[in-house]
Amino acid sequence: MLRIAIIIGSTRPGRKGEAVAKWAYEIARARTDAEFELVDIKDFNLPLLDEPMPPMMGRYTHDHTKMWSAKIASFDGFVFVTPEYNHATSAALKNAIDFLYSEWVNKAAGFIGYGATSGARAVENLRLIMGELQVATVRAQVGLSMFTDFENFSVFKPAPAHEKHVHVMLDQVIAWSGALKTLRVK
Ligand SMILES: Cc1cc2nc3c(=O)[nH]c(=O)nc-3n(C[C@H](O)[C@H](O)[C@H](O)COP(=O)(O)O)c2cc1C
Repeated sequence: MLRIAIIIGSTRPGRKGEAVAKWAYEIARARTDAEFELVDIKDFNLPLLDEPMPPMMGRYTHDHTKMWSAKIASFDGFVFVTPEYNHATSAALKNAIDFLYSEWVNKAAGFIGYGATSGARAVENLRLIMGELQVATVRAQVGLSMFTDFENFSVFKPAPAHEKHVHVMLDQVIAWSGALKTLRVK
């Protein structure tokens, strides 16, 4: 069974990302075509990148890197749930991505963005980053607006249509995750 991570991309106290990711996870886990796991980068307590060797070498010295590596290596594909901070993804998510290399390569990713412009710029930023890591990014994405999907810009109340958008994005992530798995057979 393909394994897909739903990664919470924000770490700040009071973050909205947790509610968004849990909502997506509940939708995803009703499916039978893949296994899903909620992955919270906050749980890994990653400092700013502190490995002496480039991640491409895979020679990790710290336990936090080894634990993060083992977790990400266990998946075939990813859904990044990203906030938009200053027209980009969060520094915490970029840092977590930067810690690893081969664990991402030849896998697929989809995105759920949220913000004033539905996280569109944060997702575009992540697509560029994924290109360097040889992650195939699917076209369908979920965009949640601070104006219409969060009551008083605060409580997450997604419009009903977004559930279908999550499924369309997952359909593509699962299809590409399965196809790319053949490239990773040693
Ligand atoms: C440092 C910072 C920068 C932000 N910049 C943007 C931005 O460029 N565009 C946008 O739509 N929202 C921006 N916002 C608003 C966030 O999208 C909103 O606060 C969202 O809840 C952040 O996600 P989080 O609660 O999971 O951390 C910014 C928020 C923060 C904290």
